[in-house]
Amino acid sequence: MKILIANWKMAPETSKGAIDLAKKTYQISKSYKKSVDIMVAVPFAHIATVVRNAPLLKVGAQDISNNVDIAHTGQVSANMIRSYGATYSIVGHSEARASGDTNEIVNEKIKRLLEKKIQPVLCVGEKSRDSQGWYLSEIKEQLEICLDDIASPSIKKIIIAYEPVWAIGSKAEREATPGECQEMIIFIRKILTDKFDEKISSKIPILYGGSVTEENGLNFIKEGGSNGLLVGRLSLDAKRFAKLVDRISR
Ligand code: PGA
Repeated sequence: MKILIANWKMAPETSKGAIDLAKKTYQISKSYKKSVDIMVAVPFAHIATVVRNAPLLKVGAQDISNNVDIAHTGQVSANMIRSYGATYSIVGHSEARASGDTNEIVNEKIKRLLEKKIQPVLCVGEKSRDSQGWYLSEIKEQLEICLDDIASPSIKKIIIAYEPVWAIGSKAEREATPGECQEMIIFIRKILTDKFDEKISSKIPILYGGSVTEENGLNFIKEGGSNGLLVGRLSLDAKRFAKLVDRISR
C-alpha cells in the first residue's frame, strides 16, 4: 500500500473551497482505496469542516504546538486537533522550521502527538547539497535529535517524509532525481536501524516530498524507493492529483 499525504499548506482560502476540495479528494481516495492510502494535512481552520464534510477521509494537521500550558496565544495543541477528528500531524516541515522550529522543538512536538495517540509525520531535509556530502550529516542530526528519547513501541507509529528544502515549493531550485531520493532513503533507513533495529526500521514508511507532479511522482516510488509521497501544491488541483493517484496505483 502506497501512502499519499496531501499537504494543503495555507489553502484553500475559504471554507467553501475546503469543502469542495475535501469532497473531491474523498472521491479519489475511495476509488483507489485498495492501493493508495490517501491522507490530507489541512490548515487548523479547516480541520472540523473537512471532517464534517468528508467523514471517511483521513484528516490531519500540518503542525501543533510543543507547549503544554495555555499561555501561548495563537497556538494549537495536540489534544485540540484530536478532539476535532485529526488522526495525525506533520511536524518539522521546512516552512515551519523556517519560522523558528529547531530539531529540539520538533522532538517535543512528536512527544506531544504520541502522548495523545496521534500519528506524527516527521519531515526532514537538507537546505542544499554539496559535493562533500555534508548534507548527510544535516539529515542525521535532524533524525537523531527529533527522535531522541522516543521509545521503540511509539516509533513504529511514525511516518518520515524526506523533503529536500531546495526542491520544495514554487521557489524550488530544481526537481530532485529518483537517484537522489533513493540514496537518501537508504541513508535514513540505516540511521533508523542503528537507532532502533532493523525490524522496526524496515516498517517505518519513508515518503518523498518536494515538487511532486503527476509525471515525476511514480519514479520517486519505483526508482527512488520511497513508500509514498508528500504532495504540496499539486494536491490543491483535484484533477492533477487524481492523475497522480491513478499512476501510482498501478
Ligand atoms: P510542493 O510542497 O509539492 O508544493 O513542493 C511539498 C511540501 O511542502 O510538503
